[in-house]
Amino acid sequence: MAMDPKRVKSDLVLILDFGSQYTHLITRRIRSLSVFSLCLNGTSSLQSITELNPSLVILSGGPHSVHTPDSPSFPDGFLHWAQDNSVPVLGICYGLQLLVHRLGGEVRVGNKQEYGRMEIHVQNASALYPVDKVGHNQLVWMSHGDEAVTLPSGFNVVARSQQGAVAAIENPSAKLYGLQYHPEVTHTPEGMDTLKHFLFDVCGISAEWKMEDVLEEEIRVINNTVGPKEHVICALSGGVDSTVAATIVHKAIGDRLHCVFVDNGLLRYKERERVMETFEKDLHLPVVCVDAVDQFLTKLKGVTDPEVKRKIIGKEFICIFDDFAHELEKKLGTRPSYLVQGTLYPDVIESCPPPGSGRTHSHTIKSHHNVGGLPKDMKLKLIEPLKLLFKDEVRQLGRIMDVPEGFLKRHPFPGPGLAVRVLGDVTEDNALDILRQVDEIFIQSIKDAGLYDVIWQAFAVFLPIRSVGVQGDQRTHSHVVALRAVTSQDGMTADWYYFEHKFLDDVSRKICNGVRGVNRVVQDITSKPPSTIEWE
Ligand code: XMP
Repeated sequence: MAMDPKRVKSDLVLILDFGSQYTHLITRRIRSLSVFSLCLNGTSSLQSITELNPSLVILSGGPHSVHTPDSPSFPDGFLHWAQDNSVPVLGICYGLQLLVHRLGGEVRVGNKQEYGRMEIHVQNASALYPVDKVGHNQLVWMSHGDEAVTLPSGFNVVARSQQGAVAAIENPSAKLYGLQYHPEVTHTPEGMDTLKHFLFDVCGISAEWKMEDVLEEEIRVINNTVGPKEHVICALSGGVDSTVAATIVHKAIGDRLHCVFVDNGLLRYKERERVMETFEKDLHLPVVCVDAVDQFLTKLKGVTDPEVKRKIIGKEFICIFDDFAHELEKKLGTRPSYLVQGTLYPDVIESCPPPGSGRTHSHTIKSHHNVGGLPKDMKLKLIEPLKLLFKDEVRQLGRIMDVPEGFLKRHPFPGPGLAVRVLGDVTEDNALDILRQVDEIFIQSIKDAGLYDVIWQAFAVFLPIRSVGVQGDQRTHSHVVALRAVTSQDGMTADWYYFEHKFLDDVSRKICNGVRGVNRVVQDITSKPPSTIEWE
């Protein structure tokens, strides 16, 4: 259960997704203009498009060619519906080619392969560009090989690339528009101006998407759904999503929300104390802390395979959560009916599959689940208040509800915790304790250097090997730790962060002087791909 997109006050811009890597980005960009925007698989039924009552439909880019058999396309009747209802349609890249192809124009498989950054010339007065852009050149980002060569009747070319390829088209009387390039990426510096002009001046869309309204609507929905005697449970991980989700539910139903935070022995330095203080003192959330350190570490003893570790942790977590729910049932005399989850929009967007995948339809599945699924017999209904939101919007919601800023900006932390940062058996050689101290020094140094918000995720890794060193007059045979810091947009790809040598030198000295059992510090200098962010 989450808020109903049809009740959002703002106009809706619907993105039909044809598989572009930028589909999420354009959805977010439009929301950043205070306009509500959703993303739907481009091959969805006409009804699923029309029932959302969009004020504008954008056809996304995509890696296909309109000439490939089974290339994805919008449903029959879509353009008629748009015209009958005066809904403008903007095709971007593959979306432009689809418009041209479906309306009887010609798209040629590109022989010039126009890719990357290039200059276009805005040649005609048109609806797409404000008057001051006409006659000027601008840099844009192209990412498709095919090219529109003959336009359907009623269409004009509005801009061309330096090589003469069609860059922008329009049929203003039919409210159909197309851009061969991507206005949503930063490589198109004037792209946001073009989008703004298009949305507000051409389509007359109103900018009314506000997080305050979202919060109000979420609270209303929760209040209407959860009966006055019903109870709700939530597992807090210490991360932003579950905290913001729980805080919303708490605002709606107060102490009929029951949260649990599990100390599994795999947490960072003083993490338990720190998050419990935020939950209790800042957010006044009703939360029980379960100390399950021995339970987890006993099960993990001797385990070295990372996937086995993940499974054990997921299973233990479910047992503890199950016990928590049963205890609660005994205490309340009734069993909790709902479970809060911090699912985000990118986890649920139905994306268009890539060409050649053999799929016609797919769900984006989050690659890492903290909990391997809850026991079916608990029969809990779900409350997912963040299901339509992106991460930056979740942070904004948190801000409105006074979740401390430092908390909202925390780096992501894996569900299996330090177990996937100690290579090998987590119970050996005091590894967890060493790692906690090293991690704390590293993160604190990053904060002191003002780099915490620039870096997407930083952490230390414990290596299960010893190397020779010399400390004082003594030879040592101690552990090696690795430091990892990456920049990233979404964790799917990442670059390693370039620290200054002085910074690395200071951190390394602090670690070797301050943490017993470590005599060597190395830095991970691989990007993702080819490696991953975590080591295990
Ligand atoms: P990788 O290592 O896959 O990490 O490049 C991408 C992001 O996912 C986090 N991560 C996990 N999160 N359970 C989680 O909840 C896991 O098992 C897990 N493994 C990796 C990782 O910290 C990074 O942010």
